[in-house]
Amino acid sequence: INKYLATCGVASRRACDKLITDGKVSINGKRAELGTDVNEKKDKVTVDGVPVTLREEHEYFIMNKPKGYVCTVKDDKGRKTVMELLPEEAGRVYPVGRLDYDTEGLLLFTDDGDLAFRITHPRNEITKTYLVKVEGSIGDNELNRLRAGVELDGKRTNKSVVKVIETDKAFTRLHVTVSEGRYHLVRRMFEAVGKEVVFLKRIKIGELSLGSLERGKVRRLHADEIFYLKNI
Ligand code: URA
Repeated sequence: INKYLATCGVASRRACDKLITDGKVSINGKRAELGTDVNEKKDKVTVDGVPVTLREEHEYFIMNKPKGYVCTVKDDKGRKTVMELLPEEAGRVYPVGRLDYDTEGLLLFTDDGDLAFRITHPRNEITKTYLVKVEGSIGDNELNRLRAGVELDGKRTNKSVVKVIETDKAFTRLHVTVSEGRYHLVRRMFEAVGKEVVFLKRIKIGELSLGSLERGKVRRLHADEIFYLKNI
């Protein structure tokens, strides 16, 4: 059972043992014991009530999108699209959500429509974290306004988490975590407090991190990352 769970991407084998002894794992509705054999064709295995499955019928990739690419399958104006950066093996995946032409960073691709729907549905308020660079310094007053929410198009933005990462006379870098997907959201939030964003990069969707993936590169998601997204 621990090998099966680890192969499904739930966690490492040792961590899976703990899930089993904690009583979180069931096989066909019965609490699993350490060392129980699993028949992957017949048995229904759940962790915390969530079914785990061995084979992925869908594809999941992440890209570190460079600036200068649009997030559509085809662009009317003939600009470069993120689809051009996908390897052939990616098949029929499409981008989940959008990043602006000038924004770089974490972009998810899948052909799993159900997952794409849940990740982008406003009701689910999946957080997104951005690295933001602005010129000069930024005051506490502005930071607190960003955190509390600013008015855009007559509607207040949700509360956000704003942390200054580094600041000097020339630039300030911040991490900003938002939970909406409005048009040019981060750039317009900063504009509303009088600051122009000069660099914007998405570094996280929920707890899924871009990590050290190079600009313009694509990789498959690991099984534990897929498991995380499916249960987000
Ligand atoms: N906010 C923006 O302003 N642009 C993006 O691409 C994403 C969030």
